[in-house]
Amino acid sequence: MGVESKKSAPIGVFDSGVGGLTVVREIVRQLPNENIVYFGDTARVPYGSKSRQTIIRFSEQIIRFLKTKEVKAIVIACNTASALALDAVRDEYDIPILGVVVPGARAAVEATVNKKVGVVGTDATVQSGVYTKTIREMDPAVEVIEKACPLFVPLVEEGFKEHVVTREIIEYYLESMRATDIDAMILGCTHYPLLRSKIRAYLGDRIQIVNPAYETAMDLRALLKEQAMENDGTEDRKSHYEFFVSDAAEKFRKFANTVMPFDVPETNVVNIEGY
Ligand code: DGL
Repeated sequence: MGVESKKSAPIGVFDSGVGGLTVVREIVRQLPNENIVYFGDTARVPYGSKSRQTIIRFSEQIIRFLKTKEVKAIVIACNTASALALDAVRDEYDIPILGVVVPGARAAVEATVNKKVGVVGTDATVQSGVYTKTIREMDPAVEVIEKACPLFVPLVEEGFKEHVVTREIIEYYLESMRATDIDAMILGCTHYPLLRSKIRAYLGDRIQIVNPAYETAMDLRALLKEQAMENDGTEDRKSHYEFFVSDAAEKFRKFANTVMPFDVPETNVVNIEGY
């Protein structure tokens, strides 16, 4: 790929399903000139209850698919895949691959004053302990409390944000977190930012809520700049966004239209097991 075609090449973003759209939304906001190819693994979601080996295999297949789209960089929007597969896949391919854990951890280390940070995520992410390890590598004085909140994912997917049961489940999971003196908490799962206002209402203003998507988009911008791969928008008048899934394209498209700031007209199904 020449320098100019590399600039206009898309960014590949993937997730286990719809949740990664919260990361795409942030990339679109911060990097409006970039083209994006998104893959949501809707046939095999959730990743949060699967083994490391399986998540690595799924991630490898998706990266191979995204490479057929000539992406110039890949963002693993899924916290579970970032936590369990990033280290394994990063050096396997000849393009930069970013995850969401390091940016999220860094934002929390910067946000905490009393050096006590909470992390909420899927079972797999919490069991991996990757957030704690990453935060403590950045600042060994920070104490980290992690908590898995697996029911948050189906609540978001079923559109239960305003339902009374969501408030009860937030309380059920976060009561112990609220009782600690953490002053920052990472939303360490793609879906949780979609419950942010409810989580904020329950936790109050004392705890700063950290969404890794914001810092991830900033890291992506820094990386593109450093490698002279930023799309300056001179070649493409309008950014192109393409969406692919492994199943249930129409359901995905409807959900995407509730999250994205533009109309998602089309979503295509890919046989990801073939990659
Ligand atoms: N995308 C996943 C994450 O951020 C949540 C959904 C799942 O379990 O696959 O961890």
